[in-house]
Amino acid sequence: MNIAVLISGRGSNMLALHQAIQKGSLKNVALSLVISSHKEAAGLAKAKRLGLPTVLIDRSQFNSRRDFENQLIKTIQQQPIDLLVLAGFMQVLSPEFVACFAPNIINIHPSLLPKYKGLNTHRRVLAAKDSKHGLTIHMVTADLDSGPTIMQKEIHIANNATEESLAADLLVQEHLFLPLVIQLIAWQDIKLTKKEVFCQDQHIEGIRWNEQNDAIMKIQNDENSIVIETNRNENIKEYAKIAEGHQERESAQELLNRAKRWLLEQDSNLRPIG
Ligand code: GRF
Repeated sequence: MNIAVLISGRGSNMLALHQAIQKGSLKNVALSLVISSHKEAAGLAKAKRLGLPTVLIDRSQFNSRRDFENQLIKTIQQQPIDLLVLAGFMQVLSPEFVACFAPNIINIHPSLLPKYKGLNTHRRVLAAKDSKHGLTIHMVTADLDSGPTIMQKEIHIANNATEESLAADLLVQEHLFLPLVIQLIAWQDIKLTKKEVFCQDQHIEGIRWNEQNDAIMKIQNDENSIVIETNRNENIKEYAKIAEGHQERESAQELLNRAKRWLLEQDSNLRPIG
């Protein structure tokens, strides 16, 4: 699967993807293109130093968003790209652009959406005195930070947390969960359609990982919704009763277990990158 990563700044998520590919933890994925919307983006310089294919499409050189996006579209369509990954890409994309690549565009956002769309999420979460913060990886639609959730990861907010400490703590998780989502898409465990996220051909409402890295996933079908968890074998039996005869429960369980194994296989001493 060929991915293009779109950045505007530091580019640490892009580097995390590159490293995951290099280490062999992200399999069957090629980082085929890094596009920066800013000339001075630190991530662009880093990608060049690593010899990654980079393109600068400098927003400031275009009079209109339309011209900028046309150049983006032209560049992306020059090669077979299967998935666009927005990672710190500070441009709001038009419905026309999104329509061109949907459903194969994802974004990573530093909050537990639908809470705190937009900027300054760490500041806002502290001001609201929330007990939890986190990240969301979601499909990109024409509405800002509002597309269907693919995955979320929660982190605890310590009493003495600052905007900086929260950002740093979350970034470590971003570098783990963005590769995980891309791996699941490459494995075709997760499929993106125009409006929904599918797991093993069942509509899911995203996968949510708690602080201990256990996950919960809700499958939505016509008759009922089934909840699958990584850590609760006794509950799984209970849900099995509800879902008796529903093959989706089993394959969803397999997917979660596979995802958990993938997480466990990663370096447990993750350090911030970039
Ligand atoms: C990350 O916090 C990401 O969630 C948000 O922008 C930041 C980008 O960081 N969308 P980096 O450029 O990947 O280091």
